[in-house]
Amino acid sequence: MCGIVGYVGRDKGQRALDVVMEGLARLEYRGYDSAGVALVGGDRVETAKKAGKLVNLQEELAAHPMPETTTGIGHTRWATHGGPTDENAHPHRGGEDGKLALIHNGIIENFHSLRGELEADGVQFTSETDTEVVAHLLARNYAGDLTEAMRTTVNSLEGAFTLLAVHADSPGTVVGARRNSPLVIGLGEGENFLGSDVAAFISHTKQAMEMGQDQIATITAEGVEVLNFDGTPGEGTPFEVTWDAAAAEKGGYDTFMEKEIHDQGQAVRDTLLGRTDADGRLTLDELKTSEESMRQINKIIIIACGTSAYAGMVAKYGIEHWARVPVEVDLAHEFRYRDPVLDPRTLVVSISQSGETMDTLMAVRHARELGANTLSICNSHGSTIPRESDAVLYTHAGPEIAVASTKAFVAQITACYVLGLYLAQLKGGTYADEAENVLADLHEIPGKIDSLLEDTARIEEIAGFMSDTRSVLFLGRNVGFPIAMEGALKLKELAYIHAEGFAAGELKHGPIALIEPGQPVFIVVPPTDAPHGLHGKVVSNIQEIRARGARTLVIAEEGDEQVVPFADEVIRVPRSTTLLQPLLAVIPLQLFALFLSTAKGLDVDQPRNLAKSVTVE
Ligand code: F6R
Repeated sequence: MCGIVGYVGRDKGQRALDVVMEGLARLEYRGYDSAGVALVGGDRVETAKKAGKLVNLQEELAAHPMPETTTGIGHTRWATHGGPTDENAHPHRGGEDGKLALIHNGIIENFHSLRGELEADGVQFTSETDTEVVAHLLARNYAGDLTEAMRTTVNSLEGAFTLLAVHADSPGTVVGARRNSPLVIGLGEGENFLGSDVAAFISHTKQAMEMGQDQIATITAEGVEVLNFDGTPGEGTPFEVTWDAAAAEKGGYDTFMEKEIHDQGQAVRDTLLGRTDADGRLTLDELKTSEESMRQINKIIIIACGTSAYAGMVAKYGIEHWARVPVEVDLAHEFRYRDPVLDPRTLVVSISQSGETMDTLMAVRHARELGANTLSICNSHGSTIPRESDAVLYTHAGPEIAVASTKAFVAQITACYVLGLYLAQLKGGTYADEAENVLADLHEIPGKIDSLLEDTARIEEIAGFMSDTRSVLFLGRNVGFPIAMEGALKLKELAYIHAEGFAAGELKHGPIALIEPGQPVFIVVPPTDAPHGLHGKVVSNIQEIRARGARTLVIAEEGDEQVVPFADEVIRVPRSTTLLQPLLAVIPLQLFALFLSTAKGLDVDQPRNLAKSVTVE
C-alpha cells in the first residue's frame, strides 16, 4: 500500500522528475487515491500533488511545469488517515520554512499524541494525515544532517512505516527509513534509487539491495549508506533483479490482468524450472534445511490472505495426500490472534505474492515466537516475509502488476505442490512413487494452460450477456471448493458484483435457499475419474440447483458428456488429474471476472478501494 520512489542523480544526468514519475507509474498498483512529488533544487523544495489517479498529477505537471533537478521523491497513496484529497496527498512539508518534504507508507500509531504535543507548541497542520506529524517532527530535529534527524525522529515513532525525506539544505540527498514496511535500494552508476519495490527503478538498474528491519538508507549520486536505528552502521543485502522492465509492461494486451492471465503457463513453467535433477527427482537446496529436519516435520500450518490463502487451501489437499502430513490453513490475521498448537516439528508455511502483506508478516513473527519453523512461498525478491522466514521457496511468476492476483496464484499452488511432492519423496513409500508421476503431470500443465487460453471468445460472450447480473454463485468440491471461492473473489473485486463460493456439499445445509429462477451458478466439476465418486456427487449438485431454476455454467474437462444435459453452458478445460485441475479450472473464472469488469466499463487493473501489497493491518 502506497508506492514510494526516491532518486538522486548527477548534474546533467536524468531529470529527477522523469525518473520519479516513471517509477510512480510502475508503482501505481500499490495505491491510487492520490499522487505527489517533491523536487530539491537550488535551496528550495518544490512539491506538486493531486487527489485521484496518477494521470491527475501528470495533468497538473503539464499545466504547471516543475524545475529541472537531480533529486526527487514521489508517492502514490492508499488512504488510511484522512480522505483522498489534495491536502492529504503526500509529500507533506515540515517546519515553518517548509524546507523539508516527506512521504510515508504505513501507519504511525502514536500520531495522535505527537500531533497534540506539536499543536501545543503552535505547529499548524494542513492535513488530517499521520504523515504530516512526522514531517514536522523531522523538520524540528533537523540541524544540518538529514540522516541524523531521521534517526532521532524514527525512534519516537510507533507503528509501521517507510519514510522518505528531502531537505532544501541537503540537496543531492534522499534519506529513507523502514520499520515493518518495504523499502529497497536500487544501485546505479552516478545515480541511486529507493523504492517500495524494484519495479520503481527496474528500467534503470537491476542491481538492488535489501534493507533490514529498522534501518535508514541515505542515498546520493555517488553512494549509499545504511545505518541502524540505534546509530550503528548497517548493511544491506545486494541482489540482482531477475526480470526486466518489459515484464512489468502490458506487452500488447489492453490490461495487465489480461497479460498476467496469459502469462500463467510460463509462471508454472518457471516455478518448476531448476527444481529437479537429471533423474527427475526434486532438489530443493534453496530451502537451506537438512533433509532430516524436513523429514521430521509432523504438521504444516499454511498462513496467507485472500487469493494466496485459497492457493493454500488447494495445496492442503495435495500435501496431505502425497506427504501424509496434516495441514491446517489459516488466514494470517486469524492465526496471529489465536493460540495455535505448534512446536519445532511444525512447519509454518506463509504464502504471499508481495512478501509484504502486514497480516502475513505478523503471523510469521507470531509463529517464530512460538518456536515453529517458517518457510515463505513468495514472488518478490528483496521483500520482508522471506527475509524474516527460516527458508524460502520463490515462485517465479514475474512481476504481478494488476491488483487482482492471477498468475501468482497458479505459481503458488505449483510451489506448494513441489513442497508436498518433495516431502513425499523424502519420506519414501507408496506416495513417493505416485509423487513421481504427479511431477511429470505437473510439467504438462503449462502447455495445457496455453492451449486453454487460445480461445476465450465464448467466456467473453457469456460475460457480455451478464453485465446486469447482481449476484453469482460458485460451487466446487474438494480442490474445486477453493477454486469456487477464488472465482467469487475475482468477481467481487473486479466487477463489484455480489458473489459467493460454496462447497457444493454444503448447499443443502442452507445456501440452496438462495437459488431462484435465473440465478447464475458456476460449478467446478472434477475429472470424470476423480476419486471418491466426486464427479457424480457434483453432477447431482448441478441437477439439484437446476431443478430450482438456476442457470448453470459448468466448468468441466474435455470429453465429460455427463454434465451436458444439466448445463446451460459448458466451459471446457483440458483433461488432468483431480489435484492438478485447479491450475486449469481457475482460468475461465479469472477470464469471466476480467470480461465482466470490462463489459461494465470498470478499471480492471485498479479496482476501487483496493491496493496491491496490503502493508497495514
Ligand atoms: C486478490 C488478491 C489479494 C491478495 C492478498 C494477499 O486478487 O490479490 O487477495 O492475494 O492481499 O496478498 P499477498 O499474496 O501479496 O500476501
